[in-house]
Amino acid sequence: AGVADDRIEGLLEEFPDHPEPGVVFRDLSALYAQPGLLAGLAARVDEEFGGAYDRVLAVESRGFVLGAALAARTGTPLTLARKPGKLPGPVHSADYSLEYGMDRLELRKSAIAPGERVLCVDDVLATGGTLAAAAQLVRDSGAEVAGMAVVLELAGLGGRDRLSSHRLAALCEVP
Ligand code: PRP
Ligand code: HPA
Repeated sequence: AGVADDRIEGLLEEFPDHPEPGVVFRDLSALYAQPGLLAGLAARVDEEFGGAYDRVLAVESRGFVLGAALAARTGTPLTLARKPGKLPGPVHSADYSLEYGMDRLELRKSAIAPGERVLCVDDVLATGGTLAAAAQLVRDSGAEVAGMAVVLELAGLGGRDRLSSHRLAALCEVP
């Protein structure tokens, strides 16, 4: 059974000026600490996409939590997109900007087979830079983005517009 949006919202913690001045940081730790709630988050994503994907791509590091829960629930292959320098062997890489700086995501070239339908998963959608980079890695692999799923959408930062060519499911939305 899925978890209701208002239950998620009630457990969010807000930290003004973290990790730098001007950013209001939403922390999801209290969600993961609730018994059974993570399974309920994965159930909601599963309901949204109804098995219309071949692989889950989870984004380092906080995206690993929902991505792993979803893959375990559905028996879907799980692949990890990593921060720079972590993965062995040849990698695809995509640079991106986010609210607080620049970063890069990498994916092993052999990780995703051409033609696969890949669901990209993260904890929070802010500017959309991270998920746009994840989508680039999927395309670089010759595969297709089946959709994107996040626990929390920060609606004021334009991420949904930036990702408008994709089907995007957010389990909870705040302004
Ligand atoms: C956070 C969050 C998302 C991303 C969202 O990750 O977990 O991945 O930022 O921002 P965006 O939509 O503007 O790209 P962060 O880069 O802080 O890394 P972490 O998960 O390793 O803490
Ligand atoms: N919370 C968590 N991750 C984030 C945020 C936030 O407010 N903004 C950008 N990434």
